[in-house]
Amino acid sequence: MTISVTLDVNGERYELSVEPDRTLLDVLRTDLGLTGTKENCLEAECGVCTVLLDGAAVNACIVLAPQAHGRRVVTIEGLGRDGTLHPLQQAFIDHGAVQCGYCIPGMILSAYAYLAGHPQPTDDEIREALAGNLCRCTGYQKIVDAVSSAAAALSTSPGLSAAPGSSAAPGLSAAEVVGGAAEGGADPKNPDKNALDQDGAGTSAGERSRDAGPIP
Ligand code: FES
Ligand code: FES
Repeated sequence: MTISVTLDVNGERYELSVEPDRTLLDVLRTDLGLTGTKENCLEAECGVCTVLLDGAAVNACIVLAPQAHGRRVVTIEGLGRDGTLHPLQQAFIDHGAVQCGYCIPGMILSAYAYLAGHPQPTDDEIREALAGNLCRCTGYQKIVDAVSSAAAALSTSPGLSAAPGSSAAPGLSAAEVVGGAAEGGADPKNPDKNALDQDGAGTSAGERSRDAGPIP
């Protein structure tokens, strides 16, 4: 049995016929080819599958596609505009916050949702906001620095548009990673959960959902 689902993904409308138990993550990656949204734990523990659902950061691995019917989904592929990176994406490059890149799309979208409602966060607040997004590579400080820098830029220049092209090295560029084009990267199985999530607890999609509007 399949059911009809209409999704608005990155401003494009999709009419799909899906099995009721298929996740939004699976539909995004398999049916729409949006592989910037990563998959790993499939149980709302790691955050690599984070997307925005009506502006709130959610774990797409535990959202059924029919639950997103008629709703607005933004993936990492939809964050930049006119072929340029969003300032958050550029900040991750500028601060060297990207290593294997597997966690980065989810990190950026969680940060995006948080900054929409908290434009001037402290470093501790950024760490708390990103506690549901795990990274095995970076040690987190550069990620916090990148988000803090982007927050400052966005709050002082509300009309700031996406920054021009990246300064990434040839090969698998950081711009491709932060833009979601890279499918590779390390599989962050059992990432260190202590650096950001200091109480060691995973965070559910519901807990992560935030009433966030768009960031300029
Ligand atoms: S794959 Fe969804 S939270 Fe890990
Ligand atoms: S850069 Fe975060 S898991 Fe590799």
